[in-house]
Amino acid sequence: MSNGITVELEAALPFIRDEELTILEPQVKQIHHQLHAKSGVGSDFLGWVDLPLNYNQEELAVLKNAAAQVKEEAEVLVVAGIGGSYLGARAALEMLSPYFPPGVDGPGAYPQVIFAGHHLSGTYLQELLAYLAEKEFCLNVISKSGSTTETAVAFRFLRKLAEEKYGKEGAKSRIFVTTDPHSGALRRLAEEAGYQTFNIPADVGGRYSVLTPVGLFPLAVAGLDVDQILAGAVKAYQDSAVAEPAKNSAYQYALLRYLFHQKGKKVELMVTYEPSLYYFTEWWKQLFGESEGKAGKGLFPAGVNFTTDLHSLGQYIQDGQKILFETVLQVVRSKAALVLPAEENDLDGLNYLAGRQIDEINAQALQGTILAHQDGGVPVMVIKIPELSAYYFGYLVYFFEKACAMSGYLLGVNPFDQPGVEEYKQNLFALLGMAGYEERRGRILARLAKAEQP
Ligand code: PA5
Repeated sequence: MSNGITVELEAALPFIRDEELTILEPQVKQIHHQLHAKSGVGSDFLGWVDLPLNYNQEELAVLKNAAAQVKEEAEVLVVAGIGGSYLGARAALEMLSPYFPPGVDGPGAYPQVIFAGHHLSGTYLQELLAYLAEKEFCLNVISKSGSTTETAVAFRFLRKLAEEKYGKEGAKSRIFVTTDPHSGALRRLAEEAGYQTFNIPADVGGRYSVLTPVGLFPLAVAGLDVDQILAGAVKAYQDSAVAEPAKNSAYQYALLRYLFHQKGKKVELMVTYEPSLYYFTEWWKQLFGESEGKAGKGLFPAGVNFTTDLHSLGQYIQDGQKILFETVLQVVRSKAALVLPAEENDLDGLNYLAGRQIDEINAQALQGTILAHQDGGVPVMVIKIPELSAYYFGYLVYFFEKACAMSGYLLGVNPFDQPGVEEYKQNLFALLGMAGYEERRGRILARLAKAEQP
């Protein structure tokens, strides 16, 4: 039995002509070789391609030791980061943790992981600080650039609280910094203060960094099996190391989404049927949105969780503008075995379902919805994952990273930069009065003043 995932295209291929696929084969092969030779646009950021294969075992051992230390000392690990320095760990935690976790203080319990620094809500931060005052906690601040405002602001408050609570020396052993190996304000701060640091490899960009200490350290603290995550990623590497799209599911997915883009589809909807996949969709949205949305191109990545959203967005998907296609993430084996009981009176009329598992009913909903949406002119691809586990989390991450790189190159953009995000960051620095941004600040203020004139 394969321990990979499968991509089913039956509900998508009717919208595409055979020759449209074959004509692109040489280009896919050429991009594949370019990716593995690390020679294309943005090649300085292709470190993720073989990262799981060559994972530094020494670093992994250090990371696991530090995670064990946090487990000993803390009830809570606060992870401060945003974008690629946040979403991957959150996606794995939500995907792999129980919906209703037992209390954090039971014997052998792993620390609760709480995220911060991923927005600028003062209320959130204030309430978090009050919550932490009563807890034993450690901090992990994550920023590749080391200068992202949201993260830096949260870290300043969290660090202050840690120093007040544990003293400067005590705080030192409770603060872990994940950043660029050589540069940035956070690297300097960590070295100055003597915090333990983890490196984000210089050639791995934020949204491709979940399989580095960015994701692995918080996940190890939470008790997830990081070796299995890496093993899944290695398998995905092997499965996607062939140039022929017919033998490479990641490239088939990339190819079809490219063709739908060229046919005028504007939106790719990631569809899940398990609420714990919400943050995986968020991670996927960032990966594709930041990688492809450039030069007026790119699909808008959006997400829905069915069947919940069939009762809100279902009408639009079925009958609205034909701008969408769907990618369904189907989990084949569920963790639950809940069987619907029979009732003598059958007052709710559900006895026709008695004896069937809830997840079997969920699978029928999935089937019925695919057929309906296909009939409504919406192409549907289905990505089947055998189960939700650390192994398949690692597999999916690598699968989508590889597909995203292929997809971005097919589109003719650099999938590894994010000039649009930089634009907002610079405006924020200018508006907040950071030194070095005086000229931009002048321009912005003049523009705002003009807009205010009657
Ligand atoms: O993918 C990216 O590079 C971005 O989304 C970053 O991850 C995000 O902006 C956070 O940046 P940093 O890790 O430098 O704080």
